[in-house]
Amino acid sequence: MKPLTAVKLLFLAAALPLSATGRAADSIKPGAVWPDDRGEHIQAHGGGVIKVGDTFYWFGEDRGKNNQPDRRYVGCYSSRDLMNWTYRNQVLKLANPENLGPDWVLERPKVFYNAKIKKFVMYMHIDDVLPGKKSGYILARVGVATSDKVDGDYQYLKSFRPLGHESRDLGQFIDDDGAAYLISEDRPNGFHIYKLSDDYLSVAEDVCLVPEHLEGGAIVHYHGLYYVIGSKLTGWNANPNVYATAQSLAGPWSEFKDLAPPAKKTYGSQSTMLLNISGTRTNTVIFMGDIWKPKTQWGSRYLWMPLEIGNGRLSLPEPREWTLDVVTGRAEIKR
Ligand code: GAL
Repeated sequence: MKPLTAVKLLFLAAALPLSATGRAADSIKPGAVWPDDRGEHIQAHGGGVIKVGDTFYWFGEDRGKNNQPDRRYVGCYSSRDLMNWTYRNQVLKLANPENLGPDWVLERPKVFYNAKIKKFVMYMHIDDVLPGKKSGYILARVGVATSDKVDGDYQYLKSFRPLGHESRDLGQFIDDDGAAYLISEDRPNGFHIYKLSDDYLSVAEDVCLVPEHLEGGAIVHYHGLYYVIGSKLTGWNANPNVYATAQSLAGPWSEFKDLAPPAKKTYGSQSTMLLNISGTRTNTVIFMGDIWKPKTQWGSRYLWMPLEIGNGRLSLPEPREWTLDVVTGRAEIKR
């Protein structure tokens, strides 16, 4: 072995966290237990990933079995290769913030970095049963929390209905110009693509109301076209997720089509984000989905797969083990 190669290998080994099995992961296994660097299954359900420098940060619902039942938690993990994840922090360990009742809900947290106020801004779905009502998910608001550090302790600021509209499942999108958007399910009307204000602390504009009842919304801009995906409203049960395309976020959006054979119900998963890995050689767009286990939420799994995408078409291949090179952007599905 040439000395340079050995040095390079050592450097790489130092940069990768070892899982509790002592070996660095070199693939992504949809549906499997995904151990972090401590060997514990990653708690980042309904989540989203942002990149800061050369590091990816994954935020999501931490539904860990040992969490206090009256609090809601957001977990944060980091990775340089999207295969090996280091536990960073429970960035939110929120006690009932607004007297919402015992069954209050914090779901689908998403984090943006705002350069103007130099803060990380987290949006999340906040909900509960209102006095006098029997069923939950009535409040339908977004909550906002901020932190100076990406994996710091986020401070909860407020909750509100975006421009007065109901908001349940939340997705995030950052456009090529850095502008930040929320994708928000509004039960009476469909889903909205909202632009955030300059400081990201409020919603500035309803860029588009798409009159389709979809949640788990996510968007990617790929080769000049916007693709939006979403799931039908079937609670924790999987359904056939769909996609549409548009030249502009404001629409018009094409008709919605299935992103996998409908009988497969998105291979048992529900969309949460589209992650665009733009490498030196190619672009890979990753479908990030959750395989929910409603009775044992902490054991809910993740289905991440590279999408077949281009020319207005998008399709989710059958889940299989795959590898990714974040430098070249190349994904390879194992046979
Ligand atoms: C799903 C939603 C999840 C959670 C669940 C509760 O439709 O995507 O985030 O809210 O319903 O039943």
